[in-house]
Amino acid sequence: MPFELPRLPYDRTALQPHLSAESLDLHHGRHYRAYLDAVNARIAGTDLEDLALDELVRHSQGSLFDVAAQAWNHGFYFQCLHPRGGGDPQGRLAELVTRHFGDMRRLRDEFDQAALGLFGSGWVWLVQHPGGALAIQTTRNAGTPLTGNSTPLLACDIWEHAYYTDYQNERARYLQGFWKLVNWDFVASQLRD
Ligand code: FE2
Repeated sequence: MPFELPRLPYDRTALQPHLSAESLDLHHGRHYRAYLDAVNARIAGTDLEDLALDELVRHSQGSLFDVAAQAWNHGFYFQCLHPRGGGDPQGRLAELVTRHFGDMRRLRDEFDQAALGLFGSGWVWLVQHPGGALAIQTTRNAGTPLTGNSTPLLACDIWEHAYYTDYQNERARYLQGFWKLVNWDFVASQLRD
């Protein structure tokens, strides 16, 4: 079965003013769709057709890995956003943030520094290591935590196509908007037991 473009989990106008409908149309409707289309074109008629997308990411290399990982990363990223997002995490996630970063401000500072320091295109992640600790991770280009041992909890797309429509090349302003949209309930739902 070919992979289909999942619907945005909110209306295309719902993330305004931080991300415009035009930006989401381009990012979700064109870039994300193009990655899925490229995956489908490459696996059609092969024995990879029956794999789930995360399995395909773990078992592919080269140009197939690039488009499969980008497809998976985008699906995860759009779930990390919500029109009523932002603020601070609650409950067990809040306790883990305090334990491993000190407080939310320090988590955000470390995340922002990682995002601003990443040259070119890539992703910034909040991940949970196998031992339970939370950490910030960056991946270049299509890189994804799926190929390592850590569990992705939160993703920020640092490819310029994610923010150019609304913020031109101002990555720092995009990050300010991003924090107002983070869906902490989704992030918490990704924690290991
Ligand atoms: Fe993207």
